[in-house]
Amino acid sequence: MMSIHEHTFDAIVVGAGGSGLMAAVYLAKQGSLRTAVLSKLYPTRSHTGTAQGGIGAALGNMGEEDHWEWHMFDTIKGSDYLGDQDAIEVMCRESPEVVYELEHMGLPFSRTEDGRIAQRRFGGHTSNFGEAPVRRACYAADRTGHMILQTLYQQSIKHDVEFFDEFQVVDLLIEDGSCRGAVALNIATGELHIFRSKALVLATGGYGQVWEITSNAVTLTGDGLFLVARRGVPLEDMEFYQFHPTGIRRMGILITEGVRGEGGILRNHAGERFMELYAPNLKDLASRDVVSRAIYKEIRAGRGINGERYVHLDATQLGAEVIENKLPEIADFCRTYLGIDPVTEPIPIQPTAHYAMGGIPTDVDGGVVGMQGEPVRGLYAIGECACVSVHGANRLGTNSLVDLVVFGRRAGIAMAEYCRGADLEPTGEDPAGRSREELEALLSTAGKDGENAAEIRREMKELMMDNVSVFRTDELLSEAKVKLEELRERADRIAIDDPSRAFNLDLTDAWETRGMVELAQITTECALNRTESRGAHSREDYPDRDDENWLKHTLAVVRDGASEIGYKPVSITRFEPKERVY
Ligand code: FUM
Repeated sequence: MMSIHEHTFDAIVVGAGGSGLMAAVYLAKQGSLRTAVLSKLYPTRSHTGTAQGGIGAALGNMGEEDHWEWHMFDTIKGSDYLGDQDAIEVMCRESPEVVYELEHMGLPFSRTEDGRIAQRRFGGHTSNFGEAPVRRACYAADRTGHMILQTLYQQSIKHDVEFFDEFQVVDLLIEDGSCRGAVALNIATGELHIFRSKALVLATGGYGQVWEITSNAVTLTGDGLFLVARRGVPLEDMEFYQFHPTGIRRMGILITEGVRGEGGILRNHAGERFMELYAPNLKDLASRDVVSRAIYKEIRAGRGINGERYVHLDATQLGAEVIENKLPEIADFCRTYLGIDPVTEPIPIQPTAHYAMGGIPTDVDGGVVGMQGEPVRGLYAIGECACVSVHGANRLGTNSLVDLVVFGRRAGIAMAEYCRGADLEPTGEDPAGRSREELEALLSTAGKDGENAAEIRREMKELMMDNVSVFRTDELLSEAKVKLEELRERADRIAIDDPSRAFNLDLTDAWETRGMVELAQITTECALNRTESRGAHSREDYPDRDDENWLKHTLAVVRDGASEIGYKPVSITRFEPKERVY
């Protein structure tokens, strides 16, 4: 039987990436609240650390004029007009201030010759409402996320945030419309811990592991998303999942858009710069949905390298100095994983599952809202697991890091305010009961006959890659829906091999696999439901954007294993939807 430990804090942060740590710093520093961060990893291994190319802020440091309103326009256009404009305005207006705040915390940005934060080009970022590309991505070589993570971790330690490393949250204590804490498994011991709090923020990241080729670390299994879905909270816009155009062939490891920002070019088998055909104005720096589709079209037309399912990213014209100084991480990846030198050889790439635009619906302070817009008291969500929605149908590069720190900060401030006026609410008699039963039942299967979790994951990943990726049709999605139902049933019959308690990753993998299949189902059902093409959701059987019927957000709530779908309007404040021209 699992032993149970109990803790009480003012506020709990689940996840130790950029958004979670930003919230934690604000809770502890400005709110003077007892704050705990629970992370299934050692904090500085969080996935923010892999973000490479930059964080968008209209600083205008490169001798080019820039304004946050232009950033706002680009983000809305990039979102294919599905992003909520009130939230986008908040994000773009606040991003310069937050970037300077990070600088003052000690983040070692790359510099211009006169000592300002250096900026580079990124896809879809323009001046004067789409006129010409602008350098807006503030960067620290190609290790921007790594630097943000280290800086915020140091700040959290400085402000006495308490860390519970390698604690996997397995349930949320949501009762009578309010969140009162969480139950977590201490992975090192196999014991359960109940964490009671006045407020809790989910900052658990994305769920890219649902696809076969992904830039996401193995830890990105969508835990926060399926935990809230199981508690009856809806998920928003789950059909919108971004494929980054340039993942290392077969491995999916990210090659930053910063390579194209510095002048790298995509080429097909004939060496042609094919983006001239698909996006005559922005070419290789068109937004990610456009570039990923163009690569797939080249591959389908037999123009992949040697007729295979990849193309080249050619950075050879950048020269050794730019590559070694501004892109050292990707140079290292190419040498380590591919055995090639990007200074002299093109990089083999293919689109890779990268980013969830959808997630847990929130207001602009991270407060989670239900199906009718009603708040779930004390529950917040930020970063990739949340949907504010600032990315709409397609996210612009650099805006994930902006989202993390702007909304991490806002949630920290809002939670502190909430905690000051709130009492610790009581939890039911046996708050860990559900988790204990679920995990003990899984442990009791050790050594018995049953389904293998790794095999279920493999089949799900292949299915999602083939049927629910860059191009979608009714036929592919319907087939995926049926197969996912089968996988879900099989997931109920998983048997693990390892009966032990300490560091039983067989157990946590099995538990995560069930949740991932649930997320794959929601994504597929929402994609099947949306009969139009918008941003990253590209239906070959419905190739046009349909504003008349589909300029609205999807809200999916899971009942009896199936998604019930509702809608909510898009906030349009300043920019009326227009056709996107590249
Ligand atoms: O290409 C990149 O460096 C990725 C950035 C992002 O997803 O924002």
